[in-house]
Amino acid sequence: MKVYQSLTENMLTVNMLLSVFFLPGALANNCGGQTPALNITTRKYMEALIGSCLQIPCTYETEDPRYDSSKTIYGVWMKGGVNFGSNPSIVIFNSSGSVNNKYSLNMTGNLKEKNCTTLFPDIQTSHEGKYYFRVEKGDYRGTACADPLHITVKDSPQSPSINVPSDLKEHQSVTVTCSAFTPCPHSPPQLTWNLQQDSLRQTEKNTDGTFTTKIQESITLSDTHDGYNIRCSARYPVIGGNKTAETEVTLSVSYAPRNTSASISPSGLVSAGSWVELSCSSRAKPPPRFTWFWNSKDGATNVSVEQVYSFNATEGGEYYCVASNDLGNQTSSVVQINIEGNY
Ligand SMILES: *[C@@H]1O[C@H](CO)[C@@H](O)[C@H](O)[C@H]1NC(C)=O
Ligand SMILES: *[C@@H]1O[C@H](CO)[C@@H](O)[C@H](O)[C@H]1NC(C)=O
Ligand SMILES: *[C@@H]1O[C@H](CO)[C@@H](O)[C@H](O)[C@H]1NC(C)=O
Ligand SMILES: *[C@@H]1O[C@H](CO)[C@@H](O)[C@H](O)[C@H]1NC(C)=O
Ligand SMILES: *[C@@H]1O[C@H](CO)[C@@H](O)[C@H](O)[C@H]1NC(C)=O
Ligand SMILES: *[C@@H]1O[C@H](CO)[C@@H](O)[C@H](O)[C@H]1NC(C)=O
Ligand SMILES: *[C@@H]1O[C@H](CO)[C@@H](O)[C@H](O)[C@H]1NC(C)=O
Ligand SMILES: *[C@@H]1O[C@H](CO)[C@@H](O)[C@H](O)[C@H]1NC(C)=O
Ligand SMILES: *[C@@H]1O[C@H](CO)[C@@H](O)[C@H](O)[C@H]1NC(C)=O
Repeated sequence: MKVYQSLTENMLTVNMLLSVFFLPGALANNCGGQTPALNITTRKYMEALIGSCLQIPCTYETEDPRYDSSKTIYGVWMKGGVNFGSNPSIVIFNSSGSVNNKYSLNMTGNLKEKNCTTLFPDIQTSHEGKYYFRVEKGDYRGTACADPLHITVKDSPQSPSINVPSDLKEHQSVTVTCSAFTPCPHSPPQLTWNLQQDSLRQTEKNTDGTFTTKIQESITLSDTHDGYNIRCSARYPVIGGNKTAETEVTLSVSYAPRNTSASISPSGLVSAGSWVELSCSSRAKPPPRFTWFWNSKDGATNVSVEQVYSFNATEGGEYYCVASNDLGNQTSSVVQINIEGNY
């Protein structure tokens, strides 16, 4: 074992020298160019919040015949490297209790089930770094040198994210979700927003073993939701108080024309042969197209496709406009042109 270890150390030195000259690749791990004796499944990066707990999802696999089920199993965490032979202080946790557990780590996973899930109860800035897991069981000793976990520590939490489907239209029923990263599933963030307060809330496990806290609600869209700001805030319980992060999105909802009206200028009687201006207004998203119709003896005739229709009035009549977009159309009330002396 001693011989093997010092060989590994030499290989590591060689590897470190190689890493200086070659870009990351097969050699870019901490395995000294050797096949790792242990592979774990965990995150490569995790963000942690000062004062919160951090649960690290972790499972491992090994087919090594020396992994003897009758022997006691030890789980070990090392920080900053794998070469504990020459640098024993990198061992920050040994489930045997043989080292001072200065970070108060708790191996909550069942090692017998190859579950190395680990809990940091109270994250501090000094916990930032790269962590390596190791298993010792009888003659089997394996370090997951190719699967380090990089923990970064932040003083303020990530903003929650608001999820709304794209391309919103009135009358649609959509589900709006606000979700927040949840480093500590035992004390998840409390989410609140300016939609209904009795929305569905839950903390869910992601496929990678981390957790997300969500608040969710279905809304039926109308034109009044266009331009509405949804604000969601996540309050994280941490040691000595709470930390809050907020996020906001503005809804953009398409709707058919509304409040379509026609106006005439000048109003009242006009003399034959004078200039008259008809103007159509409407509220719609996307902005409407306009069509002016004249109610002639032969029925409605399309006379203009401008929002403002100006013409030389030679006879009286009824006019109206229609505003339309992809979502529908709306017809204005009728305006009447009355020619002076034309009784
Ligand atoms: C770990 O993974 C590597 C690469 O996939 C593989 O070559 C190696 O055999 C695995 N080691 C164990 C102990 O399963
Ligand atoms: C972990 O503890 C066990 C039992 O005390 C010990 O045999 C082993 O060497 C320790 N491992 C490390 C890496 O310190
Ligand atoms: C470790 O976690 C378990 C369950 O999560 C708990 O019962 C136990 O008290 C914790 N141990 C320490 C030392 O905090
Ligand atoms: C590992 O253990 C944790 C408890 O600490 C549990 O929540 C998780 O579901 C376990 N993972 C697997 C894959 O069994
Ligand atoms: C933290 O937030 C909770 C509600 O989530 C509140 O009851 C408590 O008073 C807050 N604590 C502090 C110290 O602000
Ligand atoms: C616009 O139309 C809506 C009904 O579609 C009505 O409630 C509202 O009062 C109208 N607004 C104006 C400014 O006329
Ligand atoms: C309107 O038309 C009449 C007859 O064609 C013409 O005499 C008059 O000058 C026109 N008025 C204007 C303001 O263009
Ligand atoms: C009105 O007439 C214009 C020009 O002839 C035409 O492009 C448009 O499609 C017509 N609109 C309607 C609603 O009939
Ligand atoms: C308005 O919409 C109706 C169907 O909803 C359609 O039949 C009609 O042609 C449209 N009118 C205009 C002027 O686009």
